[in-house]
Amino acid sequence: MSIVRGEQGRLELGGIELAAVVRDTGVGTPAYVYDLTGIVAEAEALHRAFGGASHLVAYAVKANSAGPVIRALRRAGCGADVVSGAELALALECGVASDAILFSGVAKLDRELDAAIAAGPEGIGAIQIESVEEIVRVSARARAASRRARVSLRVNPAASLEALATHAHIATGHDDAKFGIAKADFSHALALVAASPDLELTGLSTHVGSQFTSTQAYIAAARTLFHLVAEVRPTYGSALRFVDTGGGFGVDYGTGCRVSPSDFVSEALAVQRSFGLDDLALYVEPGRALVAAHGVLVASVVQEKSTPHGAASGARRRWLMIDAGMNDLLRPALYQARHRIEAIDPVSGPMATSASWQVVGPVCESADDFGVHELPAAAPRLVAIRDAGAYGYTMASRYNGRALAAEVFVEAGRVVASRARALDAAWVRDRADLGVVDP
Ligand code: LLP
Repeated sequence: MSIVRGEQGRLELGGIELAAVVRDTGVGTPAYVYDLTGIVAEAEALHRAFGGASHLVAYAVKANSAGPVIRALRRAGCGADVVSGAELALALECGVASDAILFSGVAKLDRELDAAIAAGPEGIGAIQIESVEEIVRVSARARAASRRARVSLRVNPAASLEALATHAHIATGHDDAKFGIAKADFSHALALVAASPDLELTGLSTHVGSQFTSTQAYIAAARTLFHLVAEVRPTYGSALRFVDTGGGFGVDYGTGCRVSPSDFVSEALAVQRSFGLDDLALYVEPGRALVAAHGVLVASVVQEKSTPHGAASGARRRWLMIDAGMNDLLRPALYQARHRIEAIDPVSGPMATSASWQVVGPVCESADDFGVHELPAAAPRLVAIRDAGAYGYTMASRYNGRALAAEVFVEAGRVVASRARALDAAWVRDRADLGVVDP
């Protein structure tokens, strides 16, 4: 558990008091604080779930693309799943071996494909092809580079949206989604890849969605994938090295999560064995499960507000207005996601009585609302929005002229890296200078 309330009642992340982190680094709020030790422990637990089986944990960089996080996970034996040329360059820059990089995405640019093909001695581990149309494009780019591109086909197991049992915006493995190759088109895709001397089919993959809190949909998709692999292997499988069942392992945002990341892996491994495919490595692409619980967004309380509320006379709503908004953490506005919010200062003594607060940010949108939370009745000074290590900073924007949040990295209870919140002046300069022609 990365986040705990210490003996003095102060909230701690990774063994260090959050109030002290923000005060001593002087980075300002809002600030994301991450515990690298907790992140590495997640990766180590996941590796253990594979037992001795050959595998790759390809960390989905989109969840948290901070260099210290990618480097820590690389040292813990992870590869990377990237979705853009920039993420590819970042993973390489952080020392991830080209062989251990997978490149997913539905609309990769030619220059991004070129970079993937040119990386390392043999290109990246696999370009994950997401459409029949993409096969021709990757093949042409490989020919132009006089290299064979290692590819995998990402197949859609034709799951229904209901069966995927997650928020519609983060379910991908159904046939109305833009992702992956439909099962019905799979044999055509295979034949095309096999006919191209410029492509080497090293893997077959799937990824059906995110934030699964049971293994059911994930394993159903894995089963469909393994079934296809077993079927096509005799004809097309001479170069096959891996099967990839994707990411999507859920985390506990406060309402529980019945399964751990290891459960997804051990169940997938068992099904893989039952299809006689255990000579192939099992690849997974977790993002959220490695980082979410080990990051918080620290915000300062700016002011309170009280407004009349409901039919009962005298009833009031209490608003807690903080300096973090939907531009810093988009998940509540975009997916109606709920993140636990806690006071950072001790909740003892006068702070022990709690009240219901409607916690909102400063952005001029009604959706800039983190929901109702039980917090000390006397407004706290600083709060922590929990489980913000995944899809927090990476989805941030500068809407309303707001600077991006600060970031602080903690390892073994010490701050090892930090970057202050950008200055408003930098944004003003950037916008004002547009259209100013250099003399
Ligand atoms: N692999 C592929 C091909 C993906 O598209 C994704 C996530 C992952 C792996 C990692 O999934 P994870 O293990 O993190 O669930 N912004 C949303 C999540 C979007 C996920 C997009 N794809 C959120 O904040 O919930």
